[in-house]
Amino acid sequence: MARILTGIQASGVPHLGNILGAILPAIKLSQNPQNDSFLFIADLHSMTTIKDAKIMQENTRAVAAAWLACGFDAEKNFFYRQSRLAGYHTELMWYLNCQTPYPMLANAHSFKDKSDRLSDVNAGLFTYPVLQAADIVLYGANFVPVGKDQRQHLEMSKDIAAIFNRTYGEVLTLPEPLIDETVMVIPGTDGTKMSKSYNNYINIFLAEKPLLKAIKSIVSDSTPLEEPKNPNTDVTFKLFSLVAEPIEIEEMRINYLAGGFGYGHAKQALFEVLWKKFEKEREIFNYYMANEEALEAKLKHGEAKAREIAEKTINDVRGVLGYL
Ligand code: ADP
Ligand code: TRP
Repeated sequence: MARILTGIQASGVPHLGNILGAILPAIKLSQNPQNDSFLFIADLHSMTTIKDAKIMQENTRAVAAAWLACGFDAEKNFFYRQSRLAGYHTELMWYLNCQTPYPMLANAHSFKDKSDRLSDVNAGLFTYPVLQAADIVLYGANFVPVGKDQRQHLEMSKDIAAIFNRTYGEVLTLPEPLIDETVMVIPGTDGTKMSKSYNNYINIFLAEKPLLKAIKSIVSDSTPLEEPKNPNTDVTFKLFSLVAEPIEIEEMRINYLAGGFGYGHAKQALFEVLWKKFEKEREIFNYYMANEEALEAKLKHGEAKAREIAEKTINDVRGVLGYL
């Protein structure tokens, strides 16, 4: 039985890129009966950048609702908010802080990048990787599925846990990252990587009209309607081929190459596929967004289950530290 754990920042409604690139693959892993999956909302990490309580709450709900909508089984697995178990996470973080060499944090790419970009360079940004290490070892995770950008954070988690073990004995499980190098980068409406930060994303949970509007905003070139078009360079075609059935993709390719088929037609077809494909997900997402108590019940249940594991690790750690 392997323990698989991942954290998701409370950064707003997950978009098509997040869903295809991270959420659906992680859900697939969690469906393997050999695995115990831990999925949590890293809302303490989000505090390094989000300073508004209402936004924090809304984002947390949207992230949780999206995972449930995409099929994450919160009963079989562990589904919780980091902030509701903050006592354990931050206590362990402190112990790990006292093992973490200062230069390891000072040289972290993401800290350097954020401290160059952001006006608010707070200590939370600096110690961010130590909290992440605590999140992971608190639940004895063996594998941590993350995007490529998290590789260094995962190396640091493992190194910090190993330093702790060298000092106090083999108490913590050393985690390994699971990075799928084959995951494609899903393009946004402007053709660059779809991202919340670039405002080029498609939110598949939107209602019909705004979804169609978002799809209509996808870039295209000025090839006239009657002329053939290149499916291999067109963003609408790329997105279509990520979500449609093989036969529909083939038909669309033929239409592009034949001419007489405009980008407007292609966008309408992409809208129709997205509208139908994510119908159930949209319904469940909206259900949880409108029914706060139902969402709360799922999370509370997950938090109670996670607490038992966190408590056991903290006790083991306190024991080796001489605090019991
Ligand atoms: P964003 O860029 O929108 O802020 P995050 O950095 O929060 O997204 O990414 C969350 C997860 O979604 C990561 O695992 C990341 O690899 C994945 N992801 C984000 N954008 C894309 C994309 N355009 N294509 C594929 N995967 C993506
Ligand atoms: N830093 C991760 C991100 O921005 C989120 C995160 C926090 C995380 N704690 C974690 C990911 C523990 C994996 C494991 O995406």
